[in-house]
Amino acid sequence: MNSPGPYMLAPMAELSHRALRELIEGFNGPPAPVRPEYYTEMISVPALLAGGPFEEWYLDGGPCPERLVYQLLGADEGPLAAAAALLDRRDCLGIDVNMGCAAPVITKTGAGVRLMEDMDKAGRIIAALRRVTKKRLSAKLRLGPRGFRLPRPGPAGEAAEKSPSAGFEYLLEFCRRLESQGLDLIILHPRLAGEKFKGRARWDYVEALRGELSIPVAGNGDIAGWESMESRAREGPVMIGRLAVKEPWIFTRRNSPSLPDRDLLEKTALHFLDLLARYQPPEFHLSRARRFFRYYCDNFIWAEYLRNKINREETLEGMGRIIRGHCRTIPENAAP
Ligand SMILES: Cc1cc2nc3c(=O)[nH]c(=O)nc-3n(C[C@H](O)[C@H](O)[C@H](O)COP(=O)(O)O)c2cc1C
Repeated sequence: MNSPGPYMLAPMAELSHRALRELIEGFNGPPAPVRPEYYTEMISVPALLAGGPFEEWYLDGGPCPERLVYQLLGADEGPLAAAAALLDRRDCLGIDVNMGCAAPVITKTGAGVRLMEDMDKAGRIIAALRRVTKKRLSAKLRLGPRGFRLPRPGPAGEAAEKSPSAGFEYLLEFCRRLESQGLDLIILHPRLAGEKFKGRARWDYVEALRGELSIPVAGNGDIAGWESMESRAREGPVMIGRLAVKEPWIFTRRNSPSLPDRDLLEKTALHFLDLLARYQPPEFHLSRARRFFRYYCDNFIWAEYLRNKINREETLEGMGRIIRGHCRTIPENAAP
């Protein structure tokens, strides 16, 4: 297997689609080996196998399928393996299993982070996928399943969760099980299932896992800028989520302080709207545009005002007009 990384775009529902990949690729960046890998948003296994009406959009692997990883969301090994067999025929770099999503609408189906509750089952899933594909097989995890807690601070008052070994045994055993069944890569978003985005991503767990496993471990969570992305990438592969939506130029290694100027912000936003119209079905346009601007608006002064205006708008053209109007009213180098 080729070494992963150094950078990966995170799977993000309603965000990690072809239009965002086109936008990111459009920034002239370093040559191919340093360009990011792209994880797709989670693809529901039942919908994929049923041939749902929007599946072709979820499966669109452009513009660089050789750096694309499909993320599957499912609860059971049979359907997951059938879906992986379908994807195996497509041009792509790899297949990922979502074992980290903690949204109730997902966990009640038994998928996402629920898979971390049962090591035997998770191991069987990886073994079943390994039988149907030679593509790179990864799993994206959290620190532990629902109800899993890190040890409380010790009597000395020292925060036990600061220690890389606190509550680490379960995670390590779980990862070793997946590794023994043929997994090629772990992606760890080091938060607990119940935390959503609360607290901080505990990168010491990423480091600790790297020290113990023979397969690579990519870290993910809370990368807030180019410098931290670069410094984390020196330790191993890094997956970037929200920052890459706010700053789609981030992988070009251009530092954000010199960006964004008003013209670039406007041009990028308008270009994204065009890409959305081109690469997503009309039924998805508004939800995807709103999701994008939820993060992208943070580049502007009066971000909340702009976001609210965009959220109330009902067409992509109207959103474009709002962006143009906003850019005319703010100073040229208006950082928030
Ligand atoms: C809008 C949104 C949608 C997400 N959808 C997925 C998903 O489909 N699959 C997944 O594994 N993680 C999903 N995540 C979690 C991200 O992949 C990532 O783990 C998280 O955002 C932390 O990384 P960040 O701090 O760089 O954003 C989503 C996150 C966001 C903000």
